[in-house]
Amino acid sequence: MSQHGIGIIGYGGFGAFLHKSWSNLKGASVIGIADQNVSNIPAGEFNIYDDWRKMIRDPLISIISIVTPPSTHAELAIASMKAGKHVLIEKPLATNLTDAREIINVSEFTGMKATVNYMLRFNPIVQQVVKWSESGVFGQLRRAVVENYAQDESLPQDHWFWDESVSGGIAVEHAVHFLDLVDLFAMYPIKHVKGASHNRNEGQEDQVYINVLYENGLIASHYHDFARPDIFESTTIRLLFDLLELELYGWIPIQGRVRAMVNPEIEKEIYKLPGFKVDQRYPYNNGNIQDSNFQKTAQTIYCGGKPYKSYGMITGTFALPDKKLDVYRFCVRSMIENLITSIDNPHIKLNVSLEDGFDTLKTALTSRESARAKY
Ligand SMILES: NC(=O)c1ccc[n+]([C@@H]2O[C@H](COP(=O)([O-])OP(=O)(O)OC[C@H]3O[C@@H](n4cnc5c(N)ncnc54)[C@H](O)[C@@H]3O)[C@@H](O)[C@H]2O)c1
Repeated sequence: MSQHGIGIIGYGGFGAFLHKSWSNLKGASVIGIADQNVSNIPAGEFNIYDDWRKMIRDPLISIISIVTPPSTHAELAIASMKAGKHVLIEKPLATNLTDAREIINVSEFTGMKATVNYMLRFNPIVQQVVKWSESGVFGQLRRAVVENYAQDESLPQDHWFWDESVSGGIAVEHAVHFLDLVDLFAMYPIKHVKGASHNRNEGQEDQVYINVLYENGLIASHYHDFARPDIFESTTIRLLFDLLELELYGWIPIQGRVRAMVNPEIEKEIYKLPGFKVDQRYPYNNGNIQDSNFQKTAQTIYCGGKPYKSYGMITGTFALPDKKLDVYRFCVRSMIENLITSIDNPHIKLNVSLEDGFDTLKTALTSRESARAKY
């Protein structure tokens, strides 16, 4: 395996987190950090640059991680790839589709690998749900509901987050993580997108709502607000398959609840959820959930007109063994490891493509436009 030098551009909150999370990587280490404000950067075994243009010329650096505010991503990603560097671009890919397409074109033209940090894809719970979407073992995913209440206590009014020309707004800067997750679970293209939003004043849009209809009939709704005190921060992702209802808790999902209609063939699937514990088992009899003993006589039940065989319902809980921060670190390590593997073995596909970043940006921008259409 070759050794890769990583250069990070942008050493604010998330750049510092990535740097810490990427200690002792196999086959790579951070050897350069650039920020327009170098006072953010602690001393260490890496070079410090006050201008990223100097860093991308370093021949020992092969990967650039772009961790600056969204409106800068396109310029930095394009220049880095033209300088012969592979790139990990923070979400969102860009703040408009012209820039996003240009990033894709430059990656194709230069042959540099490029990916977007949709690190939630590496969460083991998410990966299990993707397997169920692919196998269809619990039937069709018909409904997805993302409810995300975030604090704004650490986001003063002059923070770039509120400046749409820099961040793109909540749908573009933040909701894209969750739009990407549901795209991943959906398995079908998007047919229609509608949005609603609220501004607390001229400069601060603090609530957004996005409805997405997929071609197979899945209707997903995403609500995000940055208007809560820290204590009320919460995220729930509800996923309703024909035979399975899942609730994932936490913006980095680490635990949840499940209700599933099962038969002998599919009951074992539920145990693939990390740390699954049964709460209750209910036999199913002529359309009624019984509270007597679980009997293994399958009944036919219908979802959306489709027949399924089930002998009853199982409810339970699941949880990853690790704390949120450890799962977060695991996910961002997996992200860079996936890029490194794909650079060393070009036939191995990136887990997140630039087209994935483009698609979610398009959904976010479409919802934003529809939210502003006159009633
Ligand atoms: N994937 C995730 O889970 C995740 C989580 C948080 C943030 N992010 C993304 O990371 C990016 C940065 O967010 P943050 O919270 O760290 O922001 P931040 O404001 O804390 O840090 C941004 C840093 O970039 C520097 N910077 C800005 N423009 C620059 C330029 N042209 N050249 C060099 N340095 C420049 C600033 O000085 C600052 O240090 C955003 O795109 C954000 O959406 C991703």
